Amino acid sequence: MIEVKDLKKTYAGRGSDTVVQALRGVSFEIQNGGALSFIGESGCGKTTVGRILTGLETPTAGTILWNGQDVYKMKAKDKKEVFRKVQLIHQDPYQALNPARTIEQALVDPLKVMAKKKGHDGSWIESRVTELLTLVGLDPATVMYKYPHMLSGGQRQRVVIARALTVEPEVLVADEAVSMIDVSLRLGILKLLRDLRQNLNISLLFITHDVAAARYVGTNGEIYVIYKGLVAEKATTDDIILRPKHPYSQALLSAVPVLKGIEVPGPERFIPVKEMDQNDQTDAGCLFAPRCPFAQDVCKAERPQLTGQGHDFACHFPVERHVVATQVEA
Ligand SMILES: Nc1ncnc2c1ncn2[C@@H]1O[C@H](COP(=O)(O)OP(=O)(O)O)[C@@H](O)[C@H]1O
Ligand SMILES: [Mg+2]
Repeated sequence: MIEVKDLKKTYAGRGSDTVVQALRGVSFEIQNGGALSFIGESGCGKTTVGRILTGLETPTAGTILWNGQDVYKMKAKDKKEVFRKVQLIHQDPYQALNPARTIEQALVDPLKVMAKKKGHDGSWIESRVTELLTLVGLDPATVMYKYPHMLSGGQRQRVVIARALTVEPEVLVADEAVSMIDVSLRLGILKLLRDLRQNLNISLLFITHDVAAARYVGTNGEIYVIYKGLVAEKATTDDIILRPKHPYSQALLSAVPVLKGIEVPGPERFIPVKEMDQNDQTDAGCLFAPRCPFAQDVCKAERPQLTGQGHDFACHFPVERHVVATQVEA
C-alpha cells in the first residue's frame, strides 16, 4: 500500500555550515493491516520518519508511493487526502489535546468535517462520538464532558487515539506512544493499538526504543533496527528478537532486562558496546564501527550494504554470536 524509497532528510545543524543527517536513505513498505516497528536509540531518526509519513515534514530526497502513485507529484488536494489517512499518535497526549475543550468537543470538531463530506447529520456525529470512545475502551458517559486534566495519562492517550480515528485513517503512526504513560497503564494502550490493527485492519507504524513493546504490538510484523539514519537490520519480529545478526541489534536486545516468555541464556547475551558519542562525526564505513566490539579495518573503510532475503542486515561480519533467546510464546 505504501512504498517508501530511499528517504533522506538533512537539517541545518547548530553551526553555520553544519548539517544533521537525520535520515541517510531508508526504504520500507507498509502493507494493508500490517505492522512495522522502528527501533533504535534516541536521535537515530525515528520521529523524522513518522513526521514525513504524516506530511508534517518533507524529505530532502526519496519517494513515497501510495498505491503506486508518487505522493509528492500529486495535486495539493490529493496529497492532503493521502496524508489524512496517516494519523500520528505522539508521546504526550496532554500536549495533543486542548485543555479548554471537553473530550466530546475534541471529537466533534473533526467529525463535523467528516459528516459534511459524507452527507451525515448531527445525530451521526453524536453516535460516532459514543462509538469511538467505546472502541478505545472508555465509557462515553463518564468521560464525554470531562476536560483532559481530569483524566489519567492512559485515558488521555485513548482520547487522542479516538480523535485520530475520527478521520478514518488507514495507518496509525505511534511515536513512543506509551513512553510518557504510567507504567501500569502502558500495556492497556499497547493492547488497544494491537486490537485496532486486528479489528479495523489499520496498519501500524510503531516507533519505539522498547523492543518488548515492539514485540507485543508487532505480531506477524517486521522490525526495522535503525542506527544513525540507516537501517542496520530488518526482519520479522521473531527473527530480530531470536536471531539478531547485527551487533547493534544484539546490543539493543541485550539491554532489555526481561522479555516476557523468552528464555534468556546467561551473561553471554550481553554485548559490551560503547556509549553513543554525541560528537562522533563518523561518515565513512559502518557508522556503528566506532562502538562495535567486533569491528575490523574493513568496517571503518567500507559502508556495509543492507542485504539478505527478508532478514536483511548491513554488517560485514553478521554472525549469530549470541543466542539471545531460545523460545517465544505464541
Ligand atoms: N527540526 C530539527 N532541526 C534540526 N535537527 C533536527 C530536527 N529534528 C530532528 N533533528 C535531528 O535529527 C536527528 C534525528 O532526530 P529524530 O528523528 O527526532 O530521532 P529519534 O526520534 O530517533 O530520537 C537527531 O540528530 C536530531 O537532533
Ligand atoms: Mg523521537
